[in-house]
Amino acid sequence: MAFQLPALPYAKDALAPYMSAETLEYHHDKHHQAYVDNGNKLLAGTGLEDKTLEEIVQASYNKPALTGLFNNASQHWNHVQFWQWMKPNGGGAIPGELEKQIVSDFGSVDEFKAKFVEAGVTQFGSGWCWLVVDAGKLSVAKTPNGESPMAYGKAAILGCDVWEHSYYIDYRNRRPDYLKAFVDNMVNWEYVAELYSKAV
Ligand SMILES: [Fe+2]
Repeated sequence: MAFQLPALPYAKDALAPYMSAETLEYHHDKHHQAYVDNGNKLLAGTGLEDKTLEEIVQASYNKPALTGLFNNASQHWNHVQFWQWMKPNGGGAIPGELEKQIVSDFGSVDEFKAKFVEAGVTQFGSGWCWLVVDAGKLSVAKTPNGESPMAYGKAAILGCDVWEHSYYIDYRNRRPDYLKAFVDNMVNWEYVAELYSKAV
């Protein structure tokens, strides 16, 4: 199916001061729109036009002839999720079942947050850091560029965009501060918990 830019689920200034309206204007209206437009151009004629977005990402992963399509389709999926992984006044209490699993797999919520932030800080160059469910167990991962664990069939239930376009306006080069604000003040844990229950 043709890719479409979804509307943001909140007003552009709703995540301030942690993420500004100016960042969302560029990130959503320009960068995400470009992935949608380029993805649609590259999808034409591949025979994958009738597949779902997930199927297109997985079918084009690691296929040299489809690298351009993969990069744009995967970034489209990542950003569709990313807007939903955040909410105004986010980062509060984690719904019970998910919190229990986080404590069981990481030792504590703080330990999870530290590992997630570290993954984002140590992703060299552009990419993403993730909370992944694999065989019922939670782990943290990082990927370069537009790749996500979903591309190879893993359930990515939370991800943070560490491309400079995601934080440079608000944080300049301070990627660690952006990641800390993301986990402490922006995450929509209800949505993460919903993805978690689907994955287990
Ligand atoms: Fe982005």
